Amino acid sequence: MQMCEMRFTRKRWTICMIGLLLIFYKTKERARSNEHQEAQLTRKDILRFLDAERDVSVIKSSFKPGDTIHYVLDRRKTLNVSHTLHSLLPDVSPLKNKRFKTCAVVGNSGVLLKSGCGKEIDSHDFVIRCNLAPLAEFADDVGLRSDFTTMNPSVIQRVYGGLLNETVRENFVQRLRLLNDSVLWIPAFMVKGGEKHVEVVNELILKRKLPVHMAYPSLRLVHAVRGYWLTNKVNIKRPSTGLLMYTMATRFCDEIHLYGFWPFPKDSSGNPVKYHYYDMLKYRYFSNASPHRMPLEFKTLKMLHSKGALKLMTSKCT
Ligand code: CTP
Repeated sequence: MQMCEMRFTRKRWTICMIGLLLIFYKTKERARSNEHQEAQLTRKDILRFLDAERDVSVIKSSFKPGDTIHYVLDRRKTLNVSHTLHSLLPDVSPLKNKRFKTCAVVGNSGVLLKSGCGKEIDSHDFVIRCNLAPLAEFADDVGLRSDFTTMNPSVIQRVYGGLLNETVRENFVQRLRLLNDSVLWIPAFMVKGGEKHVEVVNELILKRKLPVHMAYPSLRLVHAVRGYWLTNKVNIKRPSTGLLMYTMATRFCDEIHLYGFWPFPKDSSGNPVKYHYYDMLKYRYFSNASPHRMPLEFKTLKMLHSKGALKLMTSKCT
């Protein structure tokens, strides 16, 4: 800057400004290239544990109807592959040969409310969302685009009352129609308990010919993801959906942007933050009884953000 404070002719001033601009862009370019390298390093590391293209879903040829599957997190309990489930298994990985420049992984924290992040989220090349969270009423803050949506079987009981009556069944069908030919990912083989719900959902999808591509994560996925984080000294009992999605996304996305990750009841200024942006669920992730360790996951993601390996958005977008 000092060199620009000398006595100036117009020509010198112009040269000086061009010089400063060049320095500015070169620094930015260098930062971007470092970030790219960090993202590449993380991806390389993760890929030593996880074959995400394969593990994102089991495929038809892996099973026959009637086969027995041992639940991933409770090996003593089993599930029989029904004809309905088998007919919905994809023939090949739903993410086969996919590669995207930028991806958004959208968590469900209330930190998204009043964020104005909807447009930015929708502008990414691939948008991953969790647990069939509602979009239309929150579009300004969360966007509408979905390329890949997860749904834990527990959502069917908690949000759609087990799909027991016609009204909730219709609401559910309407929600699935919005997926518009994108991927619906149901972790059906994790723990016993949700199998009835998964079967009802599968039957509904077939009967109503709903526009979704089904995916059911492989029996290896959670162990591989957990293994990667454990090796990196992040001791996670059971990765949350958001962490699973980020870890998988490293395989398909050059740049990953996280939104809606904030597992804390207050924001950085001390204002209350809802656990989910769309319901009244309470925080329960601080006790040892909870299945996840979201605050620890958050700390890890924040560290990766500061190294430039990912972008963690916890403030307003505009
Ligand atoms: N999330 C967060 N902070 C919150 C709520 C959610 O960071 N206050 C992130 C987590 O990564 C979480 C994801 O958003 O995994 C989706 O939220 P939710 O649907 O609650 O996630 P699950 O991990 O599926 O939780 P559960 O197993 O309890 O259903």
